[in-house]
Amino acid sequence: MKDTAAVRQEMKTAVLKGFEEKFGSFPDTRVYFAPGRVNLIGEHTDYNGGHVFPCALTIGIYAAARPRQDRKLRFYSMNLTRLGIVETSLDELVPDDSFGWTNYPKGVVYTFIKRGFAIETGFDMVIYGDIPNGSGLSSSAALEVLTGYMLRDIYGFDVDNVGLALIGQDSENNYNGMNCGIMDQFASAMGKKDNAIFLDTATLKYEYVPIVLDGAKLVIANTNKKHKLTDSGYNSRRDECETALRDLQRVVDIDTLGDLTEEQFEKYKDAIQDPICRKRAKHAVYENQRTIEAVRVLKAGNVERFGELMKEAHISISQDFEVTGIELDTLAEEAWKIDGCIGSRMTGGGFGGCTVSIVKDEAIDTFIAKVGAAYKKKIGYAADFYIVEIGNGPCRL
Ligand code: GLA
Repeated sequence: MKDTAAVRQEMKTAVLKGFEEKFGSFPDTRVYFAPGRVNLIGEHTDYNGGHVFPCALTIGIYAAARPRQDRKLRFYSMNLTRLGIVETSLDELVPDDSFGWTNYPKGVVYTFIKRGFAIETGFDMVIYGDIPNGSGLSSSAALEVLTGYMLRDIYGFDVDNVGLALIGQDSENNYNGMNCGIMDQFASAMGKKDNAIFLDTATLKYEYVPIVLDGAKLVIANTNKKHKLTDSGYNSRRDECETALRDLQRVVDIDTLGDLTEEQFEKYKDAIQDPICRKRAKHAVYENQRTIEAVRVLKAGNVERFGELMKEAHISISQDFEVTGIELDTLAEEAWKIDGCIGSRMTGGGFGGCTVSIVKDEAIDTFIAKVGAAYKKKIGYAADFYIVEIGNGPCRL
């Protein structure tokens, strides 16, 4: 695997070159990076006041940017070149599908202004990523955190990284129409090399937990099923959880589903009228408790048990939350069959996207070959596999 510092340097050179080609060469062009993330366990708990356990990756999105004297905003992506240069202005901050990916940085600019930060002049921005787009590794959160980090640096705003995560989430919720929780933006903004973040989404209290996988690695498998969470059942899952919570609040004094233990859920679950909402809430409650246990066993050095909990998490989200589909289920089920696969589950919002697996070093080649072949046979097209490393949050390069 290539050394992260060498990749950073290569990507920096490439994005600067891209900037020069599109917008010219200037001494004050700055380069930034923000990471994607993978969630190890704790899925669809972040908008239910539960715990999550994500980590930032060493892959992500780079930007070369420079402030302008006028109010123009110009964007170019070296990955999504089809859109060409998108030119807009601070006076046109309205979401519009024809603006494609630029709705994310525009949303962040809009949100800074909404929160009282003065942005009077625009900027030029070229981005280049080494993270697959729309694959469930939070390319959109990376782009939001990247834009926030850049705005803070260019305009000198007083906001910390948790603030950048909250602005990213606000922008995704209210500008881009995706009702996500805080997990992805938090993981990108607060990432720490070789650590996952045990985050209580009800209080935003967090703890870094070292991920020590002696003789094993994190392997991501991408279904390559394209998905867009705004079009998927994500927002409806969230509504179903909220309905379940309202029903429960008639019989028990709780603020979120994350307040319940499994025993309490079993005691009060009949208050939830709709059986679908009951299943969704069951997942949210059990997954939150499972995440707490997973972090406890991991801290005690029991990676095997952590792996079993990953499998239980997948089964719960597949059967009770129903956001996996045949693609993610196939990847996970095939992974569980491989000797040397310690654990495997879907990661992220679902409806396509990726699985994350912990695989022993000596089993990785077999894992990729066998899971890959079984997936292709059943689904009809290939999955992609990446061995990933846990990296730091955003930075200026
Ligand atoms: C998406 C959202 C997150 C979280 C996950 C599911 O990634 O952006 O906020 O809800 O789905 O855990």
